[in-house]
Amino acid sequence: MSDKRTIGMWLYKNGGGETIEKKMIKKLRERDILTISDINLRHATAKNGNIVHNKIKLNKLDLMFSYNAGEQTIYQTYFYQALNRVIPMINSYDSFALTEDKFHTSFVLRNAGIKTADYRVCHRDDTDQLRKTIRKWGKMVYKPTDGWGGVGLTKIEGEDNLDILLPFLNQMNIRQVFVEKFIKYDNTDFRVDIVDGQFVGCYGRKASGTDWRTNITSGGSVFMRECNDTIIDIALKAAKACGTDIAGIDIIYDQEKEEYVVLEVNGIPAFATPEQEKMGLDFNDKKIDLIVNLIDKKTKKQGK
Ligand SMILES: Nc1ncnc2c1ncn2[C@@H]1O[C@H](COP(=O)(O)OP(=O)(O)O)[C@@H](O)[C@H]1O
Ligand SMILES: [Mg+2]
Repeated sequence: MSDKRTIGMWLYKNGGGETIEKKMIKKLRERDILTISDINLRHATAKNGNIVHNKIKLNKLDLMFSYNAGEQTIYQTYFYQALNRVIPMINSYDSFALTEDKFHTSFVLRNAGIKTADYRVCHRDDTDQLRKTIRKWGKMVYKPTDGWGGVGLTKIEGEDNLDILLPFLNQMNIRQVFVEKFIKYDNTDFRVDIVDGQFVGCYGRKASGTDWRTNITSGGSVFMRECNDTIIDIALKAAKACGTDIAGIDIIYDQEKEEYVVLEVNGIPAFATPEQEKMGLDFNDKKIDLIVNLIDKKTKKQGK
């Protein structure tokens, strides 16, 4: 491999990803950093001390930038973890794995003094706990801990609802049940992007008239939205607590408690799509610059 710093990259292609990748590779080259793109760990093989992809020894790279889809297969994740033991990765495997799990994330955030929705986790056989919880809260949301796009979220509006859900849980492969208090909010959220401890940008998402979830996959839509210092401060703290170099923090306003709460931390927050850029979402260049800067910092060789 060349004398120059060389990084690996795996960035999503849809929604304008290709353009982002080109810009990023160009800016890295201006700093004398070479990029090998399209490194999909699905096609990697381990051979003794090496993890090989297309004849490239990934463990010899100066850094790996992994930025493709929230959902990765067990195989990809397994290699992500191994690779991260020998080279720097963005995000680190630990913070990637943390943000992939909603309970672990909320648990870490709570311990860092950051407000989240109230939640409980109990064994699926612990129906007493679940009953107690629904009686206390009135309404709650069942969430798969590794879900995305609002998929699988189930609103439970009373004990009767719970009775319907329980047999389903028993058929599933999971042992732990994660439920959150249903928060009364205005069906809009804030998505705040943070890179390397700095605020990048913010936008809003709004649920469609017929759904309580703001996800685009659940019919929600993106809108231009400024955010205030309180929200930025929460997002910065959340990114720090999760150890994420790059994070998109979802925040809603709890109308009963009159405070902002973090719903989740996304480790691979999408860049603004071409359509969103037309709407006026203009944080992409800032985000690219901050990421390039960070890669530069993390790959600086001693004595050079
Ligand atoms: N506790 C809650 N109370 C009310 N609405 C919620 C709650 N949790 C999630 N939602 C709604 O559901 C959406 C998806 O939830 P989230 O936890 O972000 O999971 P996902 O990873 O599927 O996006 C949120 O954007 C929000 O609109
Ligand atoms: Mg979400």
